[in-house]
Amino acid sequence: MSQSLILKMGHPILRQKAKPIQDILAPETQSILEKMREISQSAAGLAAPQIGESVRIIIFQVHPVTAQNKGIDVVPPQILINPVIKPLGREQYDDWEACLSLGDLMGLVPRYQHLAYEGYDEKGDFISGETSGHHARTIQHEYDHLDGILYIDRIKDLKNLIYRDQYENWLAGTLAT
Ligand code: NI
Repeated sequence: MSQSLILKMGHPILRQKAKPIQDILAPETQSILEKMREISQSAAGLAAPQIGESVRIIIFQVHPVTAQNKGIDVVPPQILINPVIKPLGREQYDDWEACLSLGDLMGLVPRYQHLAYEGYDEKGDFISGETSGHHARTIQHEYDHLDGILYIDRIKDLKNLIYRDQYENWLAGTLAT
């Protein structure tokens, strides 16, 4: 499935607050999940509003390319429906982010270092966990999409909004979300 199905910044759905999923096992929910799994294979993550579905579903992973590039562990893709996230501590750090909805742009964004998350998986089972660093960053980025927030809203200095090819060498492994 093509990434051309991804809504781009400027589309109103990307700025809406997404609605909770009422029935995880409903065919229409499962169909959204299937699309998201397919599209997000080569990305760090994806949120349902990015494919035009204003509902609270995110998928995120630490992709093998990112893991190698950053020297961190691979984390397989995980779906989180109606997620709740909570920072653990106040510590934040800056790193570069990209987004499938913002083309070739990248920005330096502050995020919480440690995070607790919970929600439901594709079968409707409750899941919860704690995570840190890049994985936690990706969850925060995807969660923001559910509230109509894009990473550019969180950049402290717009000088740190750049085109990907300007940092091509050392950012080669950074994947859009
Ligand atoms: Ni994104």
